[in-house]
Amino acid sequence: MRRNPKELLEFIFKHMALITAIYDNNEMLKALANMGRDIVHGERCTIWLFDARKQLLFSNTADGYDTISMSSNEGIVGSVVNSGEPVIINNAAKDEHFDNSFDRTTGFVTKKMIVVPTRDNQQQITGAIQVINTVDESDFTGDDLNNLKLISVYISETIKTTLLLEEIEANQKELMYTFNIIADKRSKETGNHLKRVSLYSRELAQLIGLSPYECDIVADASTMHDIGKIAIPDAILEKPAKLTDEEYEIIKNHTVYGYEMFARSKRRLLQSSAIIAHEHHEKYDGTGYPRGLIGEDIHIFGRIVALADVFDALASKRIYKESWSYEDIFGYIGEQRGKHFDPMLVDLFLEHKETFINIHEQLRDESETPEEKECT
Ligand code: C2E
Ligand code: SIN
Ligand code: SIN
Ligand code: FE
Ligand code: FE
Repeated sequence: MRRNPKELLEFIFKHMALITAIYDNNEMLKALANMGRDIVHGERCTIWLFDARKQLLFSNTADGYDTISMSSNEGIVGSVVNSGEPVIINNAAKDEHFDNSFDRTTGFVTKKMIVVPTRDNQQQITGAIQVINTVDESDFTGDDLNNLKLISVYISETIKTTLLLEEIEANQKELMYTFNIIADKRSKETGNHLKRVSLYSRELAQLIGLSPYECDIVADASTMHDIGKIAIPDAILEKPAKLTDEEYEIIKNHTVYGYEMFARSKRRLLQSSAIIAHEHHEKYDGTGYPRGLIGEDIHIFGRIVALADVFDALASKRIYKESWSYEDIFGYIGEQRGKHFDPMLVDLFLEHKETFINIHEQLRDESETPEEKECT
């Protein structure tokens, strides 16, 4: 039943490969807990995070969607995070620290337990991994303890990275939100335009089979596509008529301005914002701007937002144009298949017309009434 070193390595690599591919944080914690449980052939595993300032231990519940907490001044896990010493208990009923109130409320009977502390690279205690009961009712051994210690380093590093990325992404989203508030004040295009473009973009990304992570990225980053318009004079943006050639040349620069705002960032979300700002007016046949990129040289995010943006621009009233009927829009988009737009995206778009109409209907601009939709 115990693993030899080769089996142990195989076990760890198999789990690490699975865990690295997980996008959802709760799923990730669950998978890490399963890894801890299986390496010692246990029945259940709980990963506790220690907040030293509040003297509290936190964990997710078994289904992964609720957080439970307890004082770190009591119980076996509390004594492990305070002493830094792992414990093995093979007869829980007889242990002085053992508090069976959890068992009484859950109906789960704790017979055996193994708990190891987790540490950061400054050797500070960050929490503990607790495995309860063995599947074959054998005792936990010193080997089990060593194996659990081995993967505890991997578990705590993964959790730390996940929490850090969550914080960084939250900061980036806040930054983008602030940009949008500034842009909103400058632009006649409402926040609803940005929300709709975001929703259409997510939908197209899903339809073309991008990963959930990339779908999130394109949904968030697409809201930045026209951010460069904050550097374009109002007199041009708000001209209630057709632009002159010179004015149009000036407006085209909004793509490069947006790109330059984010281009230096190393973060994935801001890099994607740079790409989308840069490439959302490129055309599949190479006749777009600013670089005249062709086909798949245009990043998939750029191709997605190009279609989402034009669909929304045509379906909406602009200071310089009336809204078009859906019939005219779908006719036009079909006609631009392989010209302005990626043919594959056009096919998916036209197969799922209703989805895109619904998004537009549900997030209609206040200034628009349904009657106006009939204008072409
Ligand atoms: P926007 O209003 O968000 O429009 C985005 C894109 O939707 C346009 O990119 C174009 O590809 C498409 N589109 C919008 N309206 C029409 C239309 O009536 N017919 C067709 N065939 N396509 C349309 P484009 O042309 O590169 O324009 C970029 C931005 O320049 C526009 O963003 C808008 O802010 C501004 N713009 C373009 N034309 C005019 C204009 O005649 N007057 C004013 N004031 N601004 C304009
Ligand atoms: C991020 O940049 O915030 C996500 C991690 C990545 O670069 O893929
Ligand atoms: C680059 O790849 O040149 C920067 C991002 C972009 O393609 O717009
Ligand atoms: Fe644009
Ligand atoms: Fe736009």
